[in-house]
Amino acid sequence: MPIKPHGGMLVNRIVSGKEKLKLQEKCGQMEKIILNPREVSDLDMIAVGAFSPLYGFMCQAEYLSVVEYGRLPRGFPWTIPITLGVDEKDADKFKAGCDIALYDQKENLLGVLHLHEKYLFDKEKEAKQVFRTTDSAHPGVNYLQKMGKVLLGGPVSMINRPPASPFDNYRLDPIETRTLFKEKGWTKIVAFQTRNPIHRAHEYIQKCALETVEGLLIHPLVGATKKDDIPASVRMDCYKTLIENYYPKDRVVLSIFPAAMRYAGPREAVFHALVRKNYGCTHFIVGRDHAGVGNYYGTYDAQQIFNSFSREEIDIVPLCFEHAFFCKKCNEMATPKTCPHTSGDRISLSGTAVRGMLKDGIMPPEEFSRPEVAKILIENAHNNKSPVVQ
Ligand code: ADX
Repeated sequence: MPIKPHGGMLVNRIVSGKEKLKLQEKCGQMEKIILNPREVSDLDMIAVGAFSPLYGFMCQAEYLSVVEYGRLPRGFPWTIPITLGVDEKDADKFKAGCDIALYDQKENLLGVLHLHEKYLFDKEKEAKQVFRTTDSAHPGVNYLQKMGKVLLGGPVSMINRPPASPFDNYRLDPIETRTLFKEKGWTKIVAFQTRNPIHRAHEYIQKCALETVEGLLIHPLVGATKKDDIPASVRMDCYKTLIENYYPKDRVVLSIFPAAMRYAGPREAVFHALVRKNYGCTHFIVGRDHAGVGNYYGTYDAQQIFNSFSREEIDIVPLCFEHAFFCKKCNEMATPKTCPHTSGDRISLSGTAVRGMLKDGIMPPEEFSRPEVAKILIENAHNNKSPVVQ
């Protein structure tokens, strides 16, 4: 039996056929909202069931429960608010009970919000609870501070998926990954979330995990990230070359996760895991400082948070890894759990050091980064596309 989606059923909010035509026609008479890239991703993720059991943008009871307890009102764990904010001056025109047409910034019609509720919210409380900081230097907090003051909640209907992205060949919805895993006969699948190029440390923990399951889903997040993260197009080139050269093709699936990054560390780790359960994965890798940024979270906070929930309610199994590195004395990849040597024996470069090397066209040591990956990053650095390595 495949793992159940979170909440029991895979949500599908995509309308088709006559229903689609009817709704599309009505959109001309509706009030409209232009969504930013994160909101477009959220709408898409809700519609395809990646955010099951959510049917739409959160209403107040859901929002408050998620912020306060990290759970939906029915008790299911859910750690990240999925909200749609508008400015106070615009909010008056949206009446509870009405439908609102949702567009992207290029004015492509995407769907409809069936507005159930509009409500004010406490940004400071959300920042403290979700991000554990109110510092506006934190990218997630910064986004929150800039959001409109009024939240609109209610179910959504998706009319058109967001326009094609360069990675559409790699876009599999939850229903499709589930079918693929079934075809492959995999019952145990580990998912790997990433917003960075895959270096030797990532490769090591993925392969350690793969030793104990049947398949690996490399699931890079390609929605909105902070400006200095490496562009998804460059990362995709890195993933492809790495898989081509170093991975057993019959054990790995590369598919995009078109969601936006929140940088909420521990809370985002739980969210990332639950969402991968919806894609049909049974295991989820949580390494050091998962979904972290700066020094806001302890190195293993994103692993410890899983102890606040029971195994049954999370269901997907977190596979936790300590900080991985290459040890010269062991002459292999390891973590403090498996290597007895000192930090001087370990090749572990800081993000700043690697950034500097790539910018100067210097290949990082092979023990840190596969040469094929480093080459792509150096080319990208020269094209001035801000190579960040964390
Ligand atoms: S994240 O924001 O998606 O977490 P990143 O792509 O850097 O960022 O990390 C992907 C996964 O690899 C996360 O689970 C992270 O904890 C883990 N990870 C990154 N670097 C290491 C490392 N050196 N050792 C162990 N785990 C790591």
